[in-house]
Amino acid sequence: MSTMPPGPAPAPNQPAISLRELKRYFQHRGGIATRALDGVSLDIAAGEIFGIVGRSGAGKSTLIRCVNLLERPQSGEVRVLGEDLLALSDGALRERRRSIGMVFQHFNLLSSRTVAGNVAFPLEIAGVPKAERASRVTEALSLVGLTEKADAYPAQLSGGQKQRVGIARALAPRPRILLCDEATSALDPETTHDILRLIRRLRDKLDLTVLLITHEMAVVKEICDRVAVMEAGRVLEEGPVFDVFTRPHHPTTRSFIAGTIGHSVPPGTVARLPAARPGEERQLLQVLFAGPNSTRAVISEASRRFGIDLDIISGRIDEIAGEPFGLMALAAYGPPDKLQEAVLWFQELGLTVTPLAEAI
Ligand SMILES: Nc1ncnc2c1ncn2[C@@H]1O[C@H](COP(=O)(O)OP(=O)(O)O)[C@@H](O)[C@H]1O
Ligand SMILES: [Mg+2]
Repeated sequence: MSTMPPGPAPAPNQPAISLRELKRYFQHRGGIATRALDGVSLDIAAGEIFGIVGRSGAGKSTLIRCVNLLERPQSGEVRVLGEDLLALSDGALRERRRSIGMVFQHFNLLSSRTVAGNVAFPLEIAGVPKAERASRVTEALSLVGLTEKADAYPAQLSGGQKQRVGIARALAPRPRILLCDEATSALDPETTHDILRLIRRLRDKLDLTVLLITHEMAVVKEICDRVAVMEAGRVLEEGPVFDVFTRPHHPTTRSFIAGTIGHSVPPGTVARLPAARPGEERQLLQVLFAGPNSTRAVISEASRRFGIDLDIISGRIDEIAGEPFGLMALAAYGPPDKLQEAVLWFQELGLTVTPLAEAI
């Protein structure tokens, strides 16, 4: 027991980040409060890339800033690497923050410093001796592939290069955890892809835990292992990315996914559809399907089984984790009870069915 190393020694299988019932309200003039975080609980496992997706104002930045206590929740618990951060003294907290790197949307580089000077900055603050600083800067720049830009100034760099500097700066103190707040939101799609690939490579190589915030489901799809969907300060749902994409429970999640695969019904389509026959109904449905099952076979089977007509209005197929998944807009015609039975049957088969008006 006397040989215990200093600092936290997290038990195996314990989450790297554990948030419990976080609440953060902002009081405005006139007494109205914004519930930026309205009771958020999440566990992020060591070594995973965990995404938080949500629209602007959902509370994502407030949440990620609670993980290093740049923002203090009014109530709840923040455990990082097994330690209760809210219980630490200021000095101990400063120390622990070195194990939590952060990357920002707008890079936040110092324009008067060179690339190397920017990466050295957190090391200077931490009091790392000069010789070691130099070797850590070299190491960090090499990790992000910017060795030859050490003496350049931020103004001489492209957006993607600036973000690489931001990542190198976050890595210089050798953190265990990397927080990314919209790290690719200021970048074009090609550069976004490069930076995401870099983040994944760094996770693999350095065994980092990554918490990544984004308003783009495409980012989640490309890089995350698990995802939580946030709205109005709450987590609507969370799970492995494949599960959330293929079995979304909440309408907000479904609309995010539809946006990702660019599914829409051509304008004027609905107006051109035939009306329902007397005694029958017309329902417009969006069907989200996943996996190798032939959806067309399911549709013709439903038609036979329930004696209804099903027309495919539009459809789009994408791929996630090597499995096809897609969205289809259907017009269903038939007696109301038969339509209802068909929808239930689809759901039993694992398809997600939503009224089209709600879905797009
Ligand atoms: N310092 C602050 N003062 C007042 N309101 C804030 C502050 N920070 C965030 N908010 C409000 O909290 C909500 C969540 O903000 P934020 O966490 O930045 O969302 P997101 O990052 O998802 O866009 C928003 O309504 C925002 O206006
Ligand atoms: Mg934000």
